[in-house]
Amino acid sequence: MSDRVLKIVIHVVRLILGCTFILSGFVKAVDPKGFSYKIEEYLQVVNAQFPDWLNLPLVAAVVICCAEFVLGIYLLLGLRRKFTAIATLTVCVVFTIISVLLVIFHPVHDCGCFGEFISLTDAQTLIKNVILLGLAIMLMRNPQVAKPLVPEGWQWFVSLYTCVFIFVFCLRSLYYLPLIDFRQYKVGADLREMVFPTHEDIKPEEISDFMVLDTLSEDQTAQILFKKEPTMLIIAPLLSEASAGVAERLASISDWCNDKGYDIYCLTASPLKDIRKWCYYNDAEYPFLIADHTLLKTMVRSNPGLMLLRDGVIRNKWSANNLPEVEDASVDEKQLEAAVGNNGKILLKILLWYLLPMLLIIMLSNIIRRKTKSAKIPKVIKTLKTPKDSNTSNNSINSITTKNTKTMRKKIVAGNWKMNMTLQEGVALAKELNELLAADKPNCGVVICTPFIHLASIAPMLDTNVLKLGAENCADKEKGAYTGEVSAAMVKSTGAEYVILGHSERRAYYGETPEILKEKVNLALANGLKVIFCIGEVLEEREAGKQNEVVAAQLKGSLYDLTAEQFANVVLAYEPVWAIGTGKTATADQAEEMHAFIRQEIAKQFGPEVAENTTIQYGGSCKPSNAKELFAKPDVDGGLIGGASLKAADFKGIIDAWKE
Ligand code: PGA
Repeated sequence: MSDRVLKIVIHVVRLILGCTFILSGFVKAVDPKGFSYKIEEYLQVVNAQFPDWLNLPLVAAVVICCAEFVLGIYLLLGLRRKFTAIATLTVCVVFTIISVLLVIFHPVHDCGCFGEFISLTDAQTLIKNVILLGLAIMLMRNPQVAKPLVPEGWQWFVSLYTCVFIFVFCLRSLYYLPLIDFRQYKVGADLREMVFPTHEDIKPEEISDFMVLDTLSEDQTAQILFKKEPTMLIIAPLLSEASAGVAERLASISDWCNDKGYDIYCLTASPLKDIRKWCYYNDAEYPFLIADHTLLKTMVRSNPGLMLLRDGVIRNKWSANNLPEVEDASVDEKQLEAAVGNNGKILLKILLWYLLPMLLIIMLSNIIRRKTKSAKIPKVIKTLKTPKDSNTSNNSINSITTKNTKTMRKKIVAGNWKMNMTLQEGVALAKELNELLAADKPNCGVVICTPFIHLASIAPMLDTNVLKLGAENCADKEKGAYTGEVSAAMVKSTGAEYVILGHSERRAYYGETPEILKEKVNLALANGLKVIFCIGEVLEEREAGKQNEVVAAQLKGSLYDLTAEQFANVVLAYEPVWAIGTGKTATADQAEEMHAFIRQEIAKQFGPEVAENTTIQYGGSCKPSNAKELFAKPDVDGGLIGGASLKAADFKGIIDAWKE
């Protein structure tokens, strides 16, 4: 799959996963109580015991819906990409396992993935979760593809605001009633038609099992549903769990009903002794009717809750926390119905409270990021236009900024001869190259890094205005009895200015660890050499999507003890090991993506200014034919060239890529 296609695919994957998680988190947050009933069912299946005071199902419901929503936002905005990919995969694995168990054992009816919003069969749930798992695996393999929509320094705000928003929204849904009623008993539902259908084409899911009995087990359903006058129903699934604090309010609502001549009943699934207890302690005079516990929990998500019926139709519902004010005798049932219809507006307002600040923060953070970047570029350079820039002068601020900062950074093409060339061959090559570059001045810095034996002979013949000299290695010891080693001071004494350290061949064949390299870097810098420090992942690491992790560790392992001042003398060379000497170049996009990541890491450690000024070369099968495309990328500042540096014409061809 080409880089471009992969990018598009991963964006789509992220969008699908993000939207799915946001939807499933949000609809559960609309009705956390409903979701807690589902969790209760799951806990009963595994026979989990928990103390009553903990209300584990409800706590779990709130935590799960908040986590899903936050994860969805992270996915959508490309935040904390690695963490998000791992979390998404973990969640998808768990959900898939649960759905396999659902298909095999059918322990609960309806999985509850989307709360009460969408009801899926076990098979549909499994298919959905397997698809999501596949997408999560794809994302896990390429977590870094998406660029975060919010710059790093601002992400904490987005996280905090999202967590607070969804948590408060959950609490609101619990305190009042769900703003969207996903169940049958929504305001406006014709309960009479649902219980005693007159149309033959009524759908099975529309038929209600609403049934109420009086304490003598006489069916009172029809009497309630066929009444033309308003009827108030206090709905208290279990009186022993109902908040008794509202008993007084219920009593005044009961008085108001009596004054108006309306019926009022309390519907409960409690045993008679609990009903008596309630009446005794709360002076309740309203009559009680018995109904199914689950039915009552479904009718109103509050214990107790209140429902107004007129002509068999549900006219309004209230939670225990916002019972209607009826102290004033002039209040009539029309006023109680008037509040209906506001839910849509309230929901919109709540969503805007989230979306507007988020949009603002996304825009503001990006504007500030661009401004800070361009503020660091001297004015002179801001107006400077390379021929390439002038082609794109109408582009966005971002691309101009990128090009300008790139203009500021030193562009360097360095040759790495490795273990090639006798002394005579090397001297001849250096001479040829020197002449070529003196005659046709390069548009970038050029360095040749040669075996030790060439250094002293080549150094005096180079015109250092166009061609500089470097070694391919130096010792990790200052001096002394280290037979065969060459110290940094010795390299410097030849007239060389650079040294390559951390090359993958030295790491792999000579066991150079980050610690050893740290010593070498320190000694090289202490002796006034500039370091070309190589980093890069092997093929298996790239295939496992670990390239960023590997490169970050290499940087940290050898360079992070340096001061910003010392680091100014380090050039980085990103060389994917699978591309070195294999003819298999990383694509320009792959190189750019990694270079941008490296710059970001450097910014974290040494600050944005140092990062902007750091030269990052690309190395690995770089040739005259691909150099131009690679160097055109905003974060690629040159190349470290192996094979192609052994022929003056090829090397010159790469150097000239900066001229076009
Ligand atoms: P290559 O080597 O250009 O021959 O792939 C690059 C390097 O090892 O620095």
